[in-house]
Amino acid sequence: MSDAYILGIESSCDETAAAVVRSGAEVLSNVVASQIATHQPYGGVVPELASREHLRAIVPVVRQALAEAKRTYQSLDAIAVTQGPGLAGALLVGISYAKALAYALDKPLIAVNHLEGHIHSVLLEERQKGNCDLQFPVLALVVSGGHTHLYLAQRHKQDWTYQNIGHTRDDAAGEAFDKVAKLLGLGYPGGPIIDRLAPHGDPLAVKFAPAQIKHRDRRDRANHEESIDHRPRIDFSYSGIKTAVSRYVETHSMQSSIEIRRQVLANIAKPRLEDYLENCDKMTLDLVASFQQAMVEDLVTKTLTAATAYDVATLFVTGGVAANHHLRQRFERDAPTHGLPVYFPSRPLSTDNAAMIAAAAYPKFLANEWSAMDFSADASLPLR
Ligand code: KG4
Ligand code: ZN
Repeated sequence: MSDAYILGIESSCDETAAAVVRSGAEVLSNVVASQIATHQPYGGVVPELASREHLRAIVPVVRQALAEAKRTYQSLDAIAVTQGPGLAGALLVGISYAKALAYALDKPLIAVNHLEGHIHSVLLEERQKGNCDLQFPVLALVVSGGHTHLYLAQRHKQDWTYQNIGHTRDDAAGEAFDKVAKLLGLGYPGGPIIDRLAPHGDPLAVKFAPAQIKHRDRRDRANHEESIDHRPRIDFSYSGIKTAVSRYVETHSMQSSIEIRRQVLANIAKPRLEDYLENCDKMTLDLVASFQQAMVEDLVTKTLTAATAYDVATLFVTGGVAANHHLRQRFERDAPTHGLPVYFPSRPLSTDNAAMIAAAAYPKFLANEWSAMDFSADASLPLR
């Protein structure tokens, strides 16, 4: 089989991304235009602004991806694009552009699930390192700003299947990081800031009660089942810890110092770690460290419980929150004691990117699974 050059396009949230990947195994370019500066003043992603920024960025980002890969449009074998889940208006920008490009070039178009992309970012990098020998089934923790899912992934030749065995009942883990950082006046996105500040606080200073999931999941029919083949679903819940941080702030009268910090940091274009540290007292640093500790503890414990219950051979941890240093350390320490090899993408491929979309499209390309030109964005596209 000769090489296949796939252009990936990703626009599901606040990153406009394009990448060229050779045969799902080599990243030739990986361009990401981040909209952080646009959304920062609002402390979160504003959907209308995201669509407008994608429109602005999509053409130059794709051009740059081709230039860096030293490929012409005509030399591409397929165009892959994220269909969902994500923000509908943001997804539509990438999809419309990919359709137009595929039509004009007369190339196959392949729609990809964003979550499948996060899983394939791990596979892409392992192939790139020459490791083609992963054992199945794989348990993948996909943990980001919009998602916290556990998937059992199986491969039968080019056919991949995924079974969701757990998800968050309320906030995603990355959303909790972002909301807590916003609450503490630390800015957006919160995950990377909390990651850098946490080593400066005491992770045992504040105790958070573990999340209790008492109610049945009413979100959709498939998830009404509390167990799969008599094995438990392993769900997550992170709105409680955010409320607990908010209550701690109130009971410890932290509001006025938070407001001062918010204003000082808002006036610094790109705050450095020293700027954050100068503006954080010990109580804040301890709270940040304890919050991160509780989040990581919950994610690691539940994932390892699921890995045992479903008797998996390999663990993947992927998505924006997989960039977290403490989370990686804990998995690297604890997964081997369960006899499990654990794999992460490198940090640039943990957060949203288009190389993962091009990589996930490769098995579909080999199986001739092209998408018809009439598919549309699906904001809550399930992964199966
Ligand atoms: O995968 P991603 O780029 O976008 C989504 O699909 O959501 O993930 C972004 C999320 C944000 O919530 C961000 O705060 C979080 O990932 N994040 C982190 C870290 N880097 C990004 N969370 C914890 N520690 C980090 N180092
Ligand atoms: Zn993502």
